[in-house]
Amino acid sequence: MTASSRRAARPRVGIVAAAGSGERLGADVPKALVDCGGQRLFTWSVEALAAVCDRVIVAVPPDLRLEIREAALEQIAGGSSRSASVREAVRSAPDAAVYVVQDAARPLLSAELVEACCEQVEAGWDGAVAAAPVSDTIKAVDGDGRVVETLDRSRLWAIQTPQAFDGAALRAALEVDDRTLAAATDDAALVEARGGSITIVPAPAENIKVTTRADLAFAELLLAPRVER
Ligand code: CTP
Ligand code: MG
Repeated sequence: MTASSRRAARPRVGIVAAAGSGERLGADVPKALVDCGGQRLFTWSVEALAAVCDRVIVAVPPDLRLEIREAALEQIAGGSSRSASVREAVRSAPDAAVYVVQDAARPLLSAELVEACCEQVEAGWDGAVAAAPVSDTIKAVDGDGRVVETLDRSRLWAIQTPQAFDGAALRAALEVDDRTLAAATDDAALVEARGGSITIVPAPAENIKVTTRADLAFAELLLAPRVER
């Protein structure tokens, strides 16, 4: 079986979660649309997913559909939380064998990282998520500020996107009420909650999420070598 016929038999659908407002960034446009390294932030994710997926869907803020249409992208209106946006995208592509969920806020992903996540799912995992070992010491603290535990750092990984999932596993995991969706900080947690198997795919710590102005400046610095190419 050739790579392309295998892909056709097991379609991969990329989903870019780009429907947030970017409150903490505080720009005059939603975060996904800010300029980052000479192009709009979300387009870095679209390019990397398009390199290894058969279809890419962008979840956008409901009032911004026209603006993104210029880029000739497949888009759907996002939901009231991040995972609700992912659910809307999944519902619009219900036949995927593999979904790759990517936050528009992480422009430093690579097509190789997306491919590595997909391959783990195609090898049998319910989910495969990009992750980097933590470099800080992490302590658990109670409500009074008292340290109750210093966690064993060698077992801790900071979870990123991309996150690839078996199609049926993600579809089932997302069919929960809106409050459960809103409480989920990533989609893997929803799959884990149903007993799904998730593996990590080692990724560079530089695959940062743009949350604040400082993050945006750092991302531009890290993207500079790709811009110069
Ligand atoms: N996201 C989404 N739909 C939502 C909320 C968030 O698709 N209803 C997306 C964002 O566009 C972003 C990713 O989820 O790419 C991660 O969320 P976050 O970094 O929190 O982005 P925002 O919600 O836009 O930022 P803020 O929380 O500061 O408003
Ligand atoms: Mg948010």
